[in-house]
Amino acid sequence: MRIDVVTIFPEVFPGPLGAGVLGRAQERGLLTLGVWDLRTFTENRHRTVDDTPYGGGAGMVMKPEPFVRAVDAIRATRPEGAGPVLLTSPQGALFSQARAQALARLPHLVILCGRYEGVDERVGDVLGAEEVSIGDYVLSGGELAAMVIIEAVTRTLPGVVGDDASVAADSFSTGVLDYPQYTRPAEFRGREVPEVLLSGHHEEIRRWRKREALRRTLERRPDLLNEAVLDDEARGFLSDLRSRKA
Ligand code: 6GU
Repeated sequence: MRIDVVTIFPEVFPGPLGAGVLGRAQERGLLTLGVWDLRTFTENRHRTVDDTPYGGGAGMVMKPEPFVRAVDAIRATRPEGAGPVLLTSPQGALFSQARAQALARLPHLVILCGRYEGVDERVGDVLGAEEVSIGDYVLSGGELAAMVIIEAVTRTLPGVVGDDASVAADSFSTGVLDYPQYTRPAEFRGREVPEVLLSGHHEEIRRWRKREALRRTLERRPDLLNEAVLDDEARGFLSDLRSRKA
């Protein structure tokens, strides 16, 4: 897969995307990251990328022409057809694991890094770009959001994470939070690892993990339970957990 990023801060890439699983994915050719400096697509001496908002108000708005020229240049490198264009924005649709998995099926993707105050609305119209947000909080610029999207998409590409089963079992792929994990030592600062995990009873361990995953989801993210696909066993655990809470 190739992902092209357009940014006024090209020097921050690859940054954390150069380390660990993502760094290895690039070394192995599973991901190619292209980084484009928005300022190279400006046309005045000052390399201006923003201007004051029509109608007045605080902050600056990013001009449309540099983004459109940058995407034209990127599309020219893909005669076989370029992928969709995402524009990072707190006004965008919320990014999700499902979205990451859908994007990972594509050979190409373009991410435009906006700034918090905004990008001229016509960029989205002219490029057919879709605004995407990574959560309900404010970032000054879209670079970190772009990195989050790239990381989440790339992780789901076949072969990137050593064990495909572990990606399939990730929270948000299964629809509920992960169960609690423990490793040695069996006792740490007076806290013991739950006995069932030391028992070697695989069926009991499976049931315990499933129940604990549901317990956490019910406590921390009950909203996920509206969308999660639950089997009879899970529904049984949940109704039991709910009746104990009440
Ligand atoms: Cl995608 N961009 C910015 N600037 N802020 C954000 C965001 C994106 N998602 C949440 N906050």
